[in-house]
Amino acid sequence: MKSAGGRLLTGLELDRAADRPLHQQLHEQLKGQILGGALPSGTRLPSTRTLVSELGVSRITIVTAFEQLTAEGFLRSRAGDGTYVDSLWSDRAPARPLPRPPLSERGAATSARGTSLFTDAPHSWAPSETESFVASQVAASAFPAAAWKRLLGRHAGRTDQSLIGYGDPHGLRALREAISEYVNDVRGLDCTPDQVVVTSGAQQAFNVLSVLLLDAGDTVLVEDPGHISGRLAFQSQGCPLHGVPVDDDGAVPPAVDDGARLACLTPARQHPLGVAMSPVRRAEWIAWAQRNGGWIVEDDCDSELRYRGKHLPTLFGLDPSRHVIMVGSFSKVLSPSIRLGYCILPEDLVEPFATASSVIGRPPAVLFQAAMADFLAEGQMHAHLRRSRKLYAARQEALLEALGQQLPYRLHAAPVDSGLHVMGWLHGAEDDVEVARGLAARGVYTYPLGEYRVTRRLPSALLIGFAGTAAEHMPQAVGRMAAAWDAWERSSARR
Ligand SMILES: Cc1ncc(COP(=O)(O)O)c(C=O)c1O
Repeated sequence: MKSAGGRLLTGLELDRAADRPLHQQLHEQLKGQILGGALPSGTRLPSTRTLVSELGVSRITIVTAFEQLTAEGFLRSRAGDGTYVDSLWSDRAPARPLPRPPLSERGAATSARGTSLFTDAPHSWAPSETESFVASQVAASAFPAAAWKRLLGRHAGRTDQSLIGYGDPHGLRALREAISEYVNDVRGLDCTPDQVVVTSGAQQAFNVLSVLLLDAGDTVLVEDPGHISGRLAFQSQGCPLHGVPVDDDGAVPPAVDDGARLACLTPARQHPLGVAMSPVRRAEWIAWAQRNGGWIVEDDCDSELRYRGKHLPTLFGLDPSRHVIMVGSFSKVLSPSIRLGYCILPEDLVEPFATASSVIGRPPAVLFQAAMADFLAEGQMHAHLRRSRKLYAARQEALLEALGQQLPYRLHAAPVDSGLHVMGWLHGAEDDVEVARGLAARGVYTYPLGEYRVTRRLPSALLIGFAGTAAEHMPQAVGRMAAAWDAWERSSARR
């Protein structure tokens, strides 16, 4: 009977024409045989001389491969007694390894939390066109590229530790100062730079807050319909979500206190419906937090983009009892690719938040923080906001006009006072998720309201973004939407 070592000689196939050196091929094939169980531990390998003559390779090829396998624990040589397969790998592997845990249907998660994260994640389109109806797409042409390039250039050559190192977990001091001045100005707060922690956007803030403030099993109140990625941050920590309805006054606090620990709200402009929370509701929510010892996460992400009417005071500013955390982001007011945002925190939460934030995600790129600090301090953000408001108001008007002219039989859309999208309420009974998919398959990207729901049944609607399309292109863009809709309808009628 052939020994395993003998079989080794017949199992090896070295390709002299391949780019990979012969010793590497030998190393890989021997390793494969050991890990696969073809060469059990204790197997004595043929001598170097035998291998040289059988395989027709040089001695140095054999010795190099053996030395590497020995260093990795696959082989062991006994002085004067040859080379053996070591037990390190082969004895540990079970004869029949169990299969890996199954992946979820959508492909990449094995835990229950990961599975729910994947299953509930929104369909995010990534249009390659610079213009689309995606609700979070900002105007590429309005991005202050020259100023941003100049500010990045100003700091890119710096080699001081504050720029080259990991950076302060709270964020660059200059940026914290600039942000506190900015939010005090545009949002009427009275916060100090010490209450600001810089984040890589609102999503990081939600993830950090969910770890810091909640245990698995704690109930979280979320708006229904509401921001999808925000609620997934809480859900993925194992927190059950309880959807609260939204009416003309904003999110409705629960009639009965049910022990929820945290409420995530968008008072400035309810996302996605667009209503501003009324003063009475604001008072009710603060009372809810105080009565329950609960937290309120106030997602204030694009409140600066208001076209009409005045801002109402933030929940953060209205709550002296410090139950509110305000989350801000530069994603919609400047660009989501910069990945910068901030949290305004009650004083006693600043250190825990900064620590958790740097463990979970590390501070954002310090170079970008430095550029943003100057962008704010030099007043460029105010100028950019003024230009953006004017531009987006005109784009909204053009969109509503084009929808009214070309799609009145499909949907109705009313003007909004703030934000980057209008709600297009469908007249028909179509499922909005199906419509959005049908349009996206034809290169027209919107978001369906159906994906924003938690449990509540809602009328069909599409979120139609206006910021990403030039006013003068709006008639053609809406024309493409109308044509795509007709084509989708024809193809679904045939099915
Ligand atoms: C309601 C809401 N909050 C926050 C954000 C911003 O998230 P981020 O700062 O992580 O880009 C968005 C972006 O789409 C949003 O719609």
